[in-house]
Amino acid sequence: MILITGGAGFIGSNFILDWLAQSDEPVLNLDALTYAGNLRNLASLQGDPRHRFVHGDIADRALVDRLLAEHRPRAIVHFAAESHVDRSILGPAAFVRTNVEGTFTLLEAARAYWASLPGADERAAFRFHHVSTDEVYGSLGPTDAPFAETHPYEPNSPYSASKAASDHLVRAWHHTYGLPVVTTNCSNNYGPFHFPEKLIPLMIVNALAGQPLPVYGDGLNVRDWLYVKDHCAAVRTVLAHGRPGETYNIGGWNEKTNLEIVHTICDLLDELRPDATGPRRRLVSFVKDRPGHDRRYAIDARKIERELGWRPAETFESGIRKTVQWYLDHPDWVAEVQNGSYRDWLATQYAGSGAAP
Ligand code: NAD
Ligand code: DAU
Repeated sequence: MILITGGAGFIGSNFILDWLAQSDEPVLNLDALTYAGNLRNLASLQGDPRHRFVHGDIADRALVDRLLAEHRPRAIVHFAAESHVDRSILGPAAFVRTNVEGTFTLLEAARAYWASLPGADERAAFRFHHVSTDEVYGSLGPTDAPFAETHPYEPNSPYSASKAASDHLVRAWHHTYGLPVVTTNCSNNYGPFHFPEKLIPLMIVNALAGQPLPVYGDGLNVRDWLYVKDHCAAVRTVLAHGRPGETYNIGGWNEKTNLEIVHTICDLLDELRPDATGPRRRLVSFVKDRPGHDRRYAIDARKIERELGWRPAETFESGIRKTVQWYLDHPDWVAEVQNGSYRDWLATQYAGSGAAP
């Protein structure tokens, strides 16, 4: 059994689906179902006894203690977070609470549980896998080398500062208490179930609806993009083979400007779902920039490639085509997110899984 936090979110739900497609090891999924949690993502697991959903908060120490004692997981994979930079600028408190206090609570609960494990082998095999971001490293200039694991932490947004704080806590719990942790810092993910507040899914749903495509500033900020299934495979690899106390950067070697991304989406939609009114690029609308907007992220993923043999399976071209096609094939998912009815899946899922709230 492994405990996943944030398993109803974008990456967590992809991770659980991929995990259970490859293994019968059960998953306990602890998620608070904030606006970003969507149990519909896991609809294909309804009634599957390998997936147990628990509606709860990672900052609830009593709940986490009880779950660890009852289910005795061999690992915790910690995805739960507030994850959207724009929201962190408008309201940073939730980011400090979940990303910092929530991670602290999980670490303390994990430490007590790990110390209580009966044998040295069981303690050595336990893992606390902290899922983090490349944004903790700050922003690169146009000719700077990509972020290596040794790059200084220079977070610039409330989101990245809260993730950096959580990374530091995880590191300290290893050095001080010996908790067997691994941390991964990944670049921008994209793929199925991506909440349409983030660049790629927002552009797809707006372009399909003939709505403006809001590009911040000059559109020349650069991100490195990784197909979400490749991130999930990297997390599985690090969980299985990563060395305790180490951090691993994960990236796709796909640096693109935001404008390139938006144009690619427009062109793919024009090909797959032509619009009689004309090419979608006409919808691009330059808007006021994000405050403190990081200019460029790029990941040096050579450590995980060299030490653990992980490499992305998708190119950007194959991954973005799959993603656009997924949104074309799932208008109901998009509609439920847009009209808010995705939140009703809580009741349905409980009925299906038999999990206790
Ligand atoms: P998301 O916002 O889609 O999902 C977050 C999930 O966490 C949701 O299901 C939400 O309900 C849950 N959650 C939030 N607060 C909680 C709490 N207090 N207790 C329990 N559950 C809570 O996020 P995502 O994009 O899937 O990101 C997952 C993780 O990966 C995050 O830690 C994020 O920092 C990291 N990450 C994301 C990306 C990316 O491109 N999306 C890239 C690198 C790293
Ligand atoms: O780098 C990893 C990070 O990637 C993760 O840690 C975060 O959780 C994830 O949200 C993502 O952060 P970004 O801020 O890079 O992602 P976002 O999709 O919000 O924005 C991507 C780029 O597109 C960024 O330069 C801002 C720009 N943008 C975004 C939106 C939503 C626009 O130009 N217009 C938009 O409407």
